[in-house]
Amino acid sequence: MCEGRRQRQGRKRERGFTLWFTGLPCSGKTTLADAVAEELRRRGLRVERLDGDVVRRTLSRDLGFSREDREENIRRVAFVAKLLTRNGVAVLTSFVSPYRKMREEARKEIGDFVEVYVKCPLEVCMQRDVKGMYKKALVGEIKNFTGISDPYEEPLNPEIVVETDKEGVEACVNKILRKLEELGYLPTKGC
Ligand SMILES: Nc1ncnc2c1ncn2[C@@H]1O[C@H](COP(=O)(O)OP(=O)(O)O)[C@@H](O)[C@H]1O
Ligand SMILES: [Mg+2]
Repeated sequence: MCEGRRQRQGRKRERGFTLWFTGLPCSGKTTLADAVAEELRRRGLRVERLDGDVVRRTLSRDLGFSREDREENIRRVAFVAKLLTRNGVAVLTSFVSPYRKMREEARKEIGDFVEVYVKCPLEVCMQRDVKGMYKKALVGEIKNFTGISDPYEEPLNPEIVVETDKEGVEACVNKILRKLEELGYLPTKGC
């Protein structure tokens, strides 16, 4: 047997998973997913990020924000996340993903799926307005904007809920890491 193969067989294969962040625009999905990704990389995991803004410019640049297009966007993301997950990668996705039905489809397709509801009151998200999108949506310059002119369906049974108006970034990150440890996706610190 070649040396490389022997080495690979001897190493315990990491169990892949998808950490799926969902929430209103400006609730904190990208911030938290980036922070958790950094910590997972520090702990030696193979990590990939799929972020709404990036995917909208690349994989889904042909799509808009109708219900149909939003569904198609999530379908594509779930497909990519599934491929990575089954190859032992820790995948962190950050999409508004407003429809319960699509998140459930993603859960079914991916299997090792951990849903993080990034919860934050609409008023706080509107105050944050990181990219000035709420302002534009309020005056009608942007149509179909989640929270203003499009629905957001709250998760009913997410594995994790973080309340970003009450808990700081570090507290949210720690809560997520603890849950991943509890679910057996992450060795407890110090192991
Ligand atoms: N606990 C928290 N978790 C995440 N973001 C927070 C938190 N508290 C304040 N923020 C701020 O809220 C904003 C969230 O922006 P962003 O992560 O781009 O949101 P989203 O990706 O959900 O649209 C950032 O400016 C971030 O610094
Ligand atoms: Mg974002």
